[in-house]
Amino acid sequence: MAQRLHLLLSIILFVNLIRFSNQQDLSFVYNGFNQGEGGLLLDGLAKIQLPGGLLQLTDATARQKGHAFFNRPFDFGSASSSQSLSFWTHFVCALVPKPGADGGHGIAFVLSSSKDLTQADPTQYLGLFNISTNGSPSSQILAIELDTVESAEFDDIDKNHVGIDENNLHSVVSAPASYYSDREGTNKSLTFLSGDPIQVWIDYEDTLLNVTLAPLRNQKPSKPLLSRNINLTSVFPDRKAFVGFSAATGSLISYQYILGWSFSTSRVSLQSLDFSKLPTVPRPKIPKKTSSLLIILLVILGLLVMAVLVGVCVYKRKKYAEVKEPWEKPYGPLRYTYKSLYKATGGFKRDGRLGKGGFGEVFKGTMPLVGDIAVKRLSHDAEQGMKQFVAEVVTMGSLQHKNLVPLLGYCRRKGELLLVSKYMEGGSVDQYLFQDDKPPLSWSQRLAILRDIASALCYLHTGASQVVLHRDIKASNVMLKGNLQAFLGDFGMARFDDRGANLSATAAVGTIGYMALELTSSGTSTRTDVYAFGAFMLEVTCGRRPFDPEMPVEKRHLVKWVVECWKRGSLVDTIDRRLGGKFIPGEVEMVLKLGLFCTRIVPDSRPSMEQVVQYLNRHQMLPDLSPDTPGIGVSTPMLMRVPSLAITSTSGISSASPPSVSSSPANNSMFISHTIMYGDGR
Ligand SMILES: *[C@@H]1O[C@H](CO)[C@@H](O)[C@H](O)[C@H]1NC(C)=O
Ligand SMILES: *[C@@H]1O[C@H](CO)[C@@H](O)[C@H](O)[C@H]1NC(C)=O
Ligand SMILES: *[C@@H]1O[C@H](CO)[C@@H](O)[C@H](O)[C@H]1NC(C)=O
Ligand SMILES: *[C@@H]1O[C@H](CO)[C@@H](O)[C@H](O)[C@H]1NC(C)=O
Repeated sequence: MAQRLHLLLSIILFVNLIRFSNQQDLSFVYNGFNQGEGGLLLDGLAKIQLPGGLLQLTDATARQKGHAFFNRPFDFGSASSSQSLSFWTHFVCALVPKPGADGGHGIAFVLSSSKDLTQADPTQYLGLFNISTNGSPSSQILAIELDTVESAEFDDIDKNHVGIDENNLHSVVSAPASYYSDREGTNKSLTFLSGDPIQVWIDYEDTLLNVTLAPLRNQKPSKPLLSRNINLTSVFPDRKAFVGFSAATGSLISYQYILGWSFSTSRVSLQSLDFSKLPTVPRPKIPKKTSSLLIILLVILGLLVMAVLVGVCVYKRKKYAEVKEPWEKPYGPLRYTYKSLYKATGGFKRDGRLGKGGFGEVFKGTMPLVGDIAVKRLSHDAEQGMKQFVAEVVTMGSLQHKNLVPLLGYCRRKGELLLVSKYMEGGSVDQYLFQDDKPPLSWSQRLAILRDIASALCYLHTGASQVVLHRDIKASNVMLKGNLQAFLGDFGMARFDDRGANLSATAAVGTIGYMALELTSSGTSTRTDVYAFGAFMLEVTCGRRPFDPEMPVEKRHLVKWVVECWKRGSLVDTIDRRLGGKFIPGEVEMVLKLGLFCTRIVPDSRPSMEQVVQYLNRHQMLPDLSPDTPGIGVSTPMLMRVPSLAITSTSGISSASPPSVSSSPANNSMFISHTIMYGDGR
């Protein structure tokens, strides 16, 4: 027993002696490198990051390398040594790609006869070789590469592999980075460039080199990733090598770190790594490619949306733009916004158009609270005279009479004036007189219309605070309501010229057949309105226009023709056939005579509107007139000079220039210069 104990003791002593005396014994552990460079030889980019103690082999510099060797070589011992050559190492590394780029190139665990690899190249040479030393046995390098770039020249299998390099970057064996999961019984792949710490075990014993990988905190897998016979003594004839790491960057760049490292020449003395002491891997905060792209996209999108919004705003502003001047302030309540009119008329759509004339277009619309409206769009270019015109319009808006179309207000835009009045659903009198789609008017209706309009006109001339001239009395300006109550509309409009050039207080237009002769000389007055009303009376009674160029010459001028008939004693011949003979002869005769009375050539010999109302209502008897009364039935001679005049139902104007009376063949009305304002017109 004592003998056996002695033997055991001597064996233990012997073993200890061998370990103690053996030159090749080498064992160390770095749980982080916070003891500084103690024991390490660094070159290139390699440095220790304090206080964490992270061994950084490369930073984000392109085409650089870094080395870290343990300062004492690993001595294989003499060839005759009975002990088999072995080493065991376990380290944790991390490869963090430069933000926004693919990482490169990789880390290698190195055994090298020389601790000076400064002549080696970075990039695909991994800081191990250069073009002349790669493949040369004199390099005396054994490397286990963790390669993150696929270099075609070294027949790399992929860009995430482990390889064993014997004096040559053409690996003797390589495999995609993966580990064997004992729990699941399958291989699981690893991604070096995930930046996560990775454990690597490299074991060498009995000429067999095993390489094993696993994520941090995993147990060492039971099966290695690579297992290969390597004759270390043939790679290192001098039987010693420095151990350490090499890493390199190219145009592809990674931060490459070693977190901890344990090494031993014997399995039993390999110290395990204390993970709790390992430094953490800094993760550069990156504006991620996708997120920055997203931000750019969002910014572009935002700008687009803003541009569209601004565009819409500008478009709307332009669309609804108005002209407003300080002098309009008192008219505020009468002012309509263009937007409200635009909406009321459904955008001035064509199918809502009631008519188009020389003054502009008239649209039907509907407004909340107001009801149906007619919007007259007058185009003009001149600002001159606009102020007075608007003032007149506004004055007219304040006029109230049961037979006046109520003017509700106005709106001004660049080059445009919009007048808003109540919509009269019946249409205008000329439609009833000349269009077949309307029922013919009976005599009593006609007389009622004449009385209504006479009353309205009388109000304009005498009833309002100022004298207001209508200036364009004619059948198309007399509107009818459902019950055929008549309304005088469009007063003052004759002042308005569609080209705007003559929009001034001294300009007026009228419609041929309704225009008194003196318009050429003394201008508008209440008596010119009376003249026009006289023509209108004849028109309504005779059912034809005051001037009709398509008639034979003797009938062309209604006034003249009526007098001719009167002279022949056949006044009845002039009466509208559509009446079908149903009329009261005394009334018709009175109206015709009154019409002639109103159209007398001398203004002062015409009755006033007050008198006309009296006559029409039979409150007063017509003075005695005969066809031979001076100045009766005289057609305005200037009109004879107009070669081919076409009369339309809408008011027209011409572009002829004042002051001389002229007309252009294309237009159906005369333009006459005058100096008249309401107030002095009586
Ligand atoms: C390669 O490296 C060796 C030493 O390792 C050096 O002598 C040689 O000049 C280098 N060649 C090139 C091309 O860098
Ligand atoms: C795991 O990988 C090793 C080495 O690449 C291979 O030899 C083995 O067949 C794989 N095992 C499984 C289960 O895929
Ligand atoms: C290497 O791996 C093989 C199994 O693939 C195993 O038999 C051998 O013992 C391992 N060698 C070392 C040194 O771990
Ligand atoms: C290893 O290489 C050395 C020198 O090249 C040789 O002497 C030895 O026999 C080799 N060992 C084996 C196991 O092949």
